[in-house]
Amino acid sequence: MALINDHYSKLKAGYLFPEIGRRVAKFAAENPSAKIIRLGIGDVTEPLPAAVTAAMHAAVDEMGRRETFRGYGPEQGFDFLRNAIAHNDFHSRGAKVAADEIFVSDGSKCDTGNILDIFGAGNTVAVTDPVYPVYVDTNVMAGRTGTADEGGRYAGLVYIPVTEANNFTPALPTQHVDLIYLCYPNNPTGTVATKETLQKWVDYARQEDAIIFFDAAYEAYITETGIPHSIYEIDGARECAIEFRSFSKTAGFTGTRCAFTVVPKGLTGKSATGDRVELHALWNRRHTTKFNGVSYVIQRGAEAIYSEAGKPQVRKLIDFYLENARVLCDGLRAAGLTVYGGVNAPYVWLKTPRDLTSWAFFDELLSKANLVGTPGSGFGAAGEGYFRLSAFNSRENIEEAVKRIQSFLS
Ligand code: MLT
Repeated sequence: MALINDHYSKLKAGYLFPEIGRRVAKFAAENPSAKIIRLGIGDVTEPLPAAVTAAMHAAVDEMGRRETFRGYGPEQGFDFLRNAIAHNDFHSRGAKVAADEIFVSDGSKCDTGNILDIFGAGNTVAVTDPVYPVYVDTNVMAGRTGTADEGGRYAGLVYIPVTEANNFTPALPTQHVDLIYLCYPNNPTGTVATKETLQKWVDYARQEDAIIFFDAAYEAYITETGIPHSIYEIDGARECAIEFRSFSKTAGFTGTRCAFTVVPKGLTGKSATGDRVELHALWNRRHTTKFNGVSYVIQRGAEAIYSEAGKPQVRKLIDFYLENARVLCDGLRAAGLTVYGGVNAPYVWLKTPRDLTSWAFFDELLSKANLVGTPGSGFGAAGEGYFRLSAFNSRENIEEAVKRIQSFLS
């Protein structure tokens, strides 16, 4: 008999976004004339920048000619893309990251889950609360937790609240932890971490011999000066941090898939016998065994993001979504709501009116305003009473959404 991974039975019913999809599909089937606006999952709506599609077309043509056709590429990514990333995303900000420390992949959601393959089962894991659910669920799947309580908190995980009470600044754990997930700009709250905050975490991680998983998928949305875009802008981070980045929200790659993970050389973990082992070598082993690389065509498209033509096009795309976020924030505040985020991130985090629970507000908003958002409690117990709206949509839909919320609340 084939035994299953019993840890899966500890997971809460459905992954957050499919659960939202299920409720919306049911509502749509029962109300076929409703014009539903979806600001739930953070999925981009605007087309790829022209420089990106031009590069992809050229790459497709190369694949159609014998002389330029390519089969398997390097699993870690082509040098042309790794060099462009190292130069533009890190060197230009004074962060020391070498091209061969960059692993190109098909998504940072996948990588933040897959990275657990190279870490032992006995690690104590810290997550913020609220948190991007993938960090929690992948640890549950890997057997690093007990069961969940009523609020959805798993035994064995260390939860660090990030709420308005602490100005969305996570306090250091009061106990030892081995693995720490930090996501900045933050999904779901849309808030950012200052250099001082990140320095405290890096110092803590080095002192505790812990590893920080730094998810910077939304770094391109940072508008305020002085906010770090990479953990490697922080002194000592190379000795304690792995960083995850994605082209999904930066340049509209949610459908085409391209991302990367940085594992610095010299970063180590401990074996059961107490030896220091290079995490770069372990991740390289894992990556080359279980992954065959992102397609050449897509990597050429990603490279074009950094071209002279691509850079302003990408900026325009990000500015478009940031303007959506501003319209949302202004409109929600005018409707009397308390709102966070939306300045350095494409997410707006609001306090539900009338002390409604997150899911009660979700249901009301869907049925009365035909608007879909994401219940804060889906991101963790500390997200209860909050709600996330995504700025990824057309301007027309964002303006219409604001109107609907204002009339729904008036
Ligand atoms: C979100 O809505 O939180 C994101 O789209 C999820 C993701 O990037 O996987």
